[in-house]
Amino acid sequence: MEWSERYALGIARMDETHREFVDFCNELSAAAPESETFLGRLDAFIAHTVAHFDQENRWMEAVNFPPCHREEHDRVLAVAREVRQRVEKGDLFLGRRLLEELVPWFDNHLDTMDSALAFYLKEIGFDTEIEKLPENGAAPALPPVHNACSCAVADDGGTDSD
Ligand SMILES: [Fe+2]
Ligand SMILES: [Fe+2]
Repeated sequence: MEWSERYALGIARMDETHREFVDFCNELSAAAPESETFLGRLDAFIAHTVAHFDQENRWMEAVNFPPCHREEHDRVLAVAREVRQRVEKGDLFLGRRLLEELVPWFDNHLDTMDSALAFYLKEIGFDTEIEKLPENGAAPALPPVHNACSCAVADDGGTDSD
């Protein structure tokens, strides 16, 4: 898996984390699934992914972003942790499958959810270094409805109109 400039979404901390994601994936794919190294690298990948997702989740929480993006993070982590347990028990096929799935997943997630988030954060001037909205910033409008984030218009308790 190679870093591509089209992965750069214009938020330094996010781009740096995504570069690291690519590195961790590459480290993982360079280890044979039957080796001890693979399990160690899978743990390192999962630890990095927890931090990666936590970072985006904190930003989303700070700006009241719709929950579907966080939910996808949770699903991916649950799968990675499940695969980790199965690999430890000898199911090496699943380890290889995880790697095969990670590349297209990352591609798609960046293209849709992360890019929608990056766009919105830039739009409202959210400072990802100090993780705060600008002091004099207006209250953020609702995130743009995005095809990857249809929950942007979903319920916040009740869906009945009026
Ligand atoms: Fe991300
Ligand atoms: Fe994300």
